[in-house]
Amino acid sequence: MTAPLVTRVVKADAAAVADATRVLAGGGLVAFPTETVYGLGADATDGRAVARVYEAKGRPAFNPLIAHVADLNAAQALGRFDAAAARLAATFWPGPLTLVLAKAERCPVAELATAGLDTVAVRLPDHKVAHDILAAFGKPVVAPSANRSGHLSPTAAAHVLADLGGRIDLIVDGGATPVGVESTIVACVGEPALLRPGGVPRAAIERVLGRKLAEARSAATEGQAQPAPGMLASHYAPRTRLRLNARRVEAGEALLAFGPIPAEGAARAKSVRNLSSRGDLIEAAANLFSQLRALDGVGAIAIAVMPIPAEGLGEAINDRLLRAAAPR
Ligand code: TXA
Ligand code: MG
Repeated sequence: MTAPLVTRVVKADAAAVADATRVLAGGGLVAFPTETVYGLGADATDGRAVARVYEAKGRPAFNPLIAHVADLNAAQALGRFDAAAARLAATFWPGPLTLVLAKAERCPVAELATAGLDTVAVRLPDHKVAHDILAAFGKPVVAPSANRSGHLSPTAAAHVLADLGGRIDLIVDGGATPVGVESTIVACVGEPALLRPGGVPRAAIERVLGRKLAEARSAATEGQAQPAPGMLASHYAPRTRLRLNARRVEAGEALLAFGPIPAEGAARAKSVRNLSSRGDLIEAAANLFSQLRALDGVGAIAIAVMPIPAEGLGEAINDRLLRAAAPR
């Protein structure tokens, strides 16, 4: 656990925007209003900052996060817009609609923020304070609702303070959020599909597309079952088998280590990555998906994963490892 922080609350004005931008640039956490609910913002390109978001919220799992941007150009640097996505963006942005898109070629969003998926959720909020912060920062900002996991989404700065005081750096108070429910999430990867109802009604989206939206499970609502073929992948799944809680490395295996002491037989591993050699769970979370991807590419018969403690972010790390290890 990191030491408690002093959470500053500032009224939304030009100085607050500059303040928020500085905190984001330093890898810190800033709650700010959007038209839907308050978001807990962090630099989407900084894996450690993203890991701190999960820690502050106390999320027991790494659900992928929405990358927020100031304009369409910035959105196009993150994801690939098919015809449906382009129509929806032209009609509803800025506004309470999130689009899940295939990642763009050089998408700069940290692997942890997309939970290792090949898709990215992008949103262009319709709120002056959010827009000013995003424009001034100039990089995508992940922002889940600014509440502790399992609590209600905050529609006022006081709700954020009650939930996250002492856990985040700054709250920008821009008054009550007008919409009050989260954004509607539509996946535009193949057939457009509704992942979460929200601020833009389904019927309005279907009218613009001239077709019904398919139903799909989002990573948030997904159970243990695998998605049907053609459906959106709901969690990261390496091709190589994972062997969890490994205390020694077998011949032909790669090693995903954790902590200062490598597993027995580490010298014979095909390849070794260490989530955090100093045993820091925030660093481990930030490295998880990129290191899994790297080891998945070395042609090992399995990836041996050392035990990860279950405290703090370790719970979410173990959750994702279990899903990635599930037989297919
Ligand atoms: O209105 C909103 O969208 C607010 C404000 C702050 O912008 N944000 C918000 O974020 O509600 P959050 O993290 O509470 O919800 C994000 C949802 C999750 O259900 C997550 O599973 C889904 O978006 N999501 C994100 N990336 C995804 C992806 N690549 N594929 C499928 N679902 C994704
Ligand atoms: Mg939420």
